[in-house]
Amino acid sequence: MGTGAAVIVAAGSGVRAGEGPPKAYREVGGAPVLRRTLETFAGRAEIGRIVVVIAEEHRARYEASVAGFAPPPLAVAGGATRTASVRRGLEALSASPPAFVLVHDAARPFVSAAVIDRVEAALLTADGAVPALVIADAVKTIEDGWIGGDAPRTSLRAVQTPQGFRYAPLLGAYRALPPDADLPDDAAVARAAGLSVRAVSGDAANLKLTYPDDFARAERSLAAPSGRIAVGHGFDAHRIAPGDGVVLCGVRIAADFGLAGHSDADAGLHALTDAILGALGAADIGEHFPPGDPAWRGADSRRFLAHAGRLAAEAGARVAHADVTVVCERPKVKPHREAMRRVVAETLGIAVERVSVKATTTERLGFLGRGEGLAALATATLVWR
Ligand code: CTP
Ligand code: MG
Repeated sequence: MGTGAAVIVAAGSGVRAGEGPPKAYREVGGAPVLRRTLETFAGRAEIGRIVVVIAEEHRARYEASVAGFAPPPLAVAGGATRTASVRRGLEALSASPPAFVLVHDAARPFVSAAVIDRVEAALLTADGAVPALVIADAVKTIEDGWIGGDAPRTSLRAVQTPQGFRYAPLLGAYRALPPDADLPDDAAVARAAGLSVRAVSGDAANLKLTYPDDFARAERSLAAPSGRIAVGHGFDAHRIAPGDGVVLCGVRIAADFGLAGHSDADAGLHALTDAILGALGAADIGEHFPPGDPAWRGADSRRFLAHAGRLAAEAGARVAHADVTVVCERPKVKPHREAMRRVVAETLGIAVERVSVKATTTERLGFLGRGEGLAALATATLVWR
């Protein structure tokens, strides 16, 4: 499990967003804002736990928005201000404190892996780190619609989330606040406690959905063919050998035979790992995890799949769909299909409906039909932002 945690705050009432469902649950590009936000964090190996801070009256919408996430995030009730909500999210982690925490607005669904990477990297040399943007426009103070003075733009930054901190000092900073404190962000809380907070490069695309126009703009940018899409395929076969069962798509199935080969010989996960690597143009599983290396003997193939998922996130892509076909006469796959989908979804940090597992025989033809081996094919669809 990762040493970090994420606190996603979604307990606001979205007054500025105008009519419609609460903004974390409003759909952009066909998916609730919160679900999009969660997918980015759930796919990261170093983030072991995710806490979502919600308004109790939105619980039904929350449940619908996170359906299929495995493991499910921990939902805790928020407070009257963002400061109070973050504090409750941090407290929910205190029984088993993570090394670091990323605090993120649910209303920023377009956060990129690169921004998260930069925040995490800066935590090696500071108590906290926040993504910040230089301001291109001239900045003025205004009163009653009249221009006042000029603000010193070159030293000003617009800051975003995720804001990352070493967990214990941030929790201490929040605990030191008076109960009704209402600060603009986590960096302000940290600075009030004297913590060091670095600025790293933010991302203009990491917009906080605030006003009705922001939703319209987000919808347009998702509809535009902004990104690359790539489909990769993978194939793997393993020899049937004496044994007492096989592992397929991460699920152990008892049988009166086993499979020989690389790691735990999970042909399903090997094919899918190769499919993701294929879509990334990143060679193949044997290149990343050489079969001759004793480190991988008997290894759990979920590690390989998680690695491929991580490479995709680093490349700015997400796995939009994974489709695996297992080819064998035995064992029967159907009774295990849903468990397999869940394992794949959990390993990649994606929703279960983005994963398909199916099986076929070869009508007793060929090496698969004769029961000499078992094979799997997989297709992975990757979408770049
Ligand atoms: N937030 C929260 N608890 C609050 C207030 C805000 O968890 N009491 C969260 C929001 O859900 C949002 C993030 O903090 O994801 C950033 O706040 P903002 O964009 O201001 O959202 P809202 O407060 O919901 O919107 P508004 O200020 O327009 O009412
Ligand atoms: Mg607000």
